[in-house]
Amino acid sequence: MTKTIVAPSILSLDYANVSEQLKQLNESKAEWLHFDVMDGHFVPNLTFGPDLLKGFKKCTDMVMDVHIMVEDPVFFTDVFLKAGADILTFHYEACKDEKEVRMICEEIHACHAKAGVSVKPGTPISVLDPLLDVIDVVLIMSVEPGFGGQSFMEDMLEKVRYIKKQIVEQNRSTLIEIDGGINADTAKLAKAAGVDVLVAGSYVFRNDIKAAVESLL
Ligand code: DX5
Ligand code: ZN
Repeated sequence: MTKTIVAPSILSLDYANVSEQLKQLNESKAEWLHFDVMDGHFVPNLTFGPDLLKGFKKCTDMVMDVHIMVEDPVFFTDVFLKAGADILTFHYEACKDEKEVRMICEEIHACHAKAGVSVKPGTPISVLDPLLDVIDVVLIMSVEPGFGGQSFMEDMLEKVRYIKKQIVEQNRSTLIEIDGGINADTAKLAKAAGVDVLVAGSYVFRNDIKAAVESLL
């Protein structure tokens, strides 16, 4: 069984208490930090720009897992790679066609970062089958993107099982990440289905950070 990675989403971080929360994150077993970028168009919410990412990079050695929920993935991929993203995940639905998805992944690789592609709940995961050769991380949304604190969509586990099978059959090392509604119970279901990376926002930051991260592993 492969090891699980926990990626706390800073969307739910308490910004009145940033340094204390970052200290706890640094002492926790979380290896990635999930950074949700929203442009107010692709999703009805607005979040962080590249300067915040640069600031976080100075305070932690965690892997910067940047998830861009934006209408213009080409522009923002470049912006967040320059700001220091280690993993850059963009949305399949925001791209013109398969060729553009491939082109963005190649651009990410050229900057020595990992390429992630995300699908919203309504998008069939099979669209990624012919692209697995350029995708390092498949990010399956288990809520509608835009907000933290929503309930886990259990039927998304079928997508996890499907893409896991494709990854094995194609002999790839692509990781499967799931995002939305993860807590200690849903984490168990996700891991059993084949998830490698668990994004968790409200569950981690509404509880004791270190204990919550540990309960997901
Ligand atoms: C939602 C974001 C998630 C969000 C998850 O669009 O992509 O990363 O922070 O939050 P929880 O874990 O609270 O569902
Ligand atoms: Zn996210």
